[in-house]
Amino acid sequence: MDFLLDTCGRRRCLLVMQLFVLKAAALCPKPQLGSHIVLTNEALLMNEFPEGSNATVECAHGYVNESGSGVMSCTGGKWTEPDLGCKKKDCGPPIPQPHMTFNLSDGTLFGAKIVVTCDKGFQISGSSYKTCYAGGWTGRAKCEMVMCEQPAEVANGRSLWDSQDEPKYGEIIEFACNEGFTLVGSKSIMCSDYGEYHPGPPECKADFSFTGATTEDRIAPRPAPTAQDSSTISTAHRDKTITTSATATVSPAGQGGIPNW
Ligand SMILES: *[C@@H]1O[C@H](CO)[C@@H](O)[C@H](O)[C@H]1NC(C)=O
Repeated sequence: MDFLLDTCGRRRCLLVMQLFVLKAAALCPKPQLGSHIVLTNEALLMNEFPEGSNATVECAHGYVNESGSGVMSCTGGKWTEPDLGCKKKDCGPPIPQPHMTFNLSDGTLFGAKIVVTCDKGFQISGSSYKTCYAGGWTGRAKCEMVMCEQPAEVANGRSLWDSQDEPKYGEIIEFACNEGFTLVGSKSIMCSDYGEYHPGPPECKADFSFTGATTEDRIAPRPAPTAQDSSTISTAHRDKTITTSATATVSPAGQGGIPNW
């Protein structure tokens, strides 16, 4: 420092010396940043931040730059305020899809979760919700028409569904029973929610009035009715095709031991 003393007046030289000291000590600390603002990778790799150096900040994951450049500089051992403004990313409403509805009550900003539903008669295939992430909405889904399986076989009857295609939501299948069998349940059923039929398919039950006997009766012939029985039978079947003639048919069977079907 001798040369300084030689070349200048005392007062001025002190100032110059102070500047030297300041410059040597003026390292900025690692920047402390507010929420949603982070150092760029480049700035993170710097070991120290000397006086006059710059560091660049950017918006945190899920946030986007609203204003400013994000450059801050180290002056006098302190960082200038970063001029960066960040706001949450807005994913916006998801792309509409056929028969699909979104519940946007949670909003469309970063982190928002929306519920996906399908119109009546359609069922969701894929994720039933979407989340707004930095890269946009996640969760793929499609609304597919509800289909029912081909109607099941009905013993002693058949469905009147003559198509090779599976029934669609809302389509109605009718059933018919073979001759001698009575339909128990609903004659028509509808392909409904979750691909299930409502009501369930009917059954075809042996028709008493037509065969005059159930399967059980055929295996074990019933005893010949007494006079009292025959009157009971004729009363019970008064409104059906069998009248007292049933008694006449049964009577020989009871006597001979061989049912006369
Ligand atoms: C949307 O979701 C919110 C919260 O889960 C619920 O309160 C609201 O009823 C839903 N709206 C519709 C139209 O389903």
